Amino acid sequence: MNRRSVLLGIGAVTAFLAVDLGAVAYANKWIGPNNTLTRETFLNAFRSVFGLHPGFRKNHAKGVVVTGHFDSNGNGSELSRAAVFRPGRSSVTGRFSLNGGDPNVVDTPAAARGLGLAFAFPDGTQWRSAMLNLPVFPDNSAQGFYDRLLAQKIVSETGKPDPAAMPAFLAAHPESAAAMAVIKQHPPTRGFADSTFNSLITFFLVNDAGVRTPVRWSFVAQQQALEQRSGGRNILFDALIRQMRNGPLQWRLILTVGAPGDSTTDATLPWPSDRRTVDAGVLTLTGIETEDPGNARDINFDPLVLPDGIQPSDDPLLNARSTVYAASYRARTGEPKSPPAVQVDKVTP
Ligand code: HEM
Repeated sequence: MNRRSVLLGIGAVTAFLAVDLGAVAYANKWIGPNNTLTRETFLNAFRSVFGLHPGFRKNHAKGVVVTGHFDSNGNGSELSRAAVFRPGRSSVTGRFSLNGGDPNVVDTPAAARGLGLAFAFPDGTQWRSAMLNLPVFPDNSAQGFYDRLLAQKIVSETGKPDPAAMPAFLAAHPESAAAMAVIKQHPPTRGFADSTFNSLITFFLVNDAGVRTPVRWSFVAQQQALEQRSGGRNILFDALIRQMRNGPLQWRLILTVGAPGDSTTDATLPWPSDRRTVDAGVLTLTGIETEDPGNARDINFDPLVLPDGIQPSDDPLLNARSTVYAASYRARTGEPKSPPAVQVDKVTP
């Protein structure tokens, strides 16, 4: 497939996505079991912690768009009948990001790095996945995510978070305290190019025989990251842009198969490291672009956009994410736009 046909494939994705609001999720107003959180309470929390940034994602606001393809080796077909796992190539559009709702935040190694991928298939079906470079997710419920978000809020008088807020959060959420200890044991790599991106949440793969298998997936980096140049606000993004100008970057899709007893509903709990894995193929990213109308700026990487052969688990984060992403998408697409901080053309060679 040449670059033009890849881009044509991506055009088809974005045409579909332009009218896509995650409509099912948007209809679901309440988040979590106790009817205390709504999509609006989440958006207001992001705005109160990170400020008002019209036109940007309310989380993972800083990002850059990538394009490429996924070559499946067919091994995943054993577990799933999804088109993505049949031998062959699908076109992919994606977005690297840093977590947080400030689109102009200074890059720091500790900020969680995100990779959103949207796969398009000739029959019009889609697969979207938004992943992080963390070993586990810090929360196992929407309430936990919400409480942790607010515990990080800067108090204007001191310029720092309330020193009592995080200890109080951790006391109320021992699952997050344990997950944050696991995260501390896995320091981040140098850059985006050598980061492995994990689904963290469990999904079920369904094969031709109807067998359902719990999996978590990872896109495992196949290269070292270029050394960053010191100075500047965008050192992580700039290094990625420079590296991609020198050639494509690759990640291997590894499916990890859960065993009885492994949690399928709690993303704070790691699975043992000896679980069976299936190497399903290679993602190759060839293009990098500034966020713009018509590219991944306008995609909602809703984790519930799944093709036949990939099913959601009962992890409560999935419905919460789908609802809040749709609300964020709906808000940002109706707001005036400012230029993004990461401008690919402005990065010096
Ligand atoms: C209750 C839990 C969560 C909430 C409320 C939440 C909220 C959000 C929101 C509002 C966005 C922006 C959506 C948009 O405007 O398109 C976002 C983006 C993102 N989230 Fe989450 N998130 C949650 C959990 C997670 C988890 C578990 C992961 C990964 C395992 C994740 C990874 C990402 C990534 C990679 C992006 C950026 C996608 C892009 O580039 O558009 N989030 N999140």
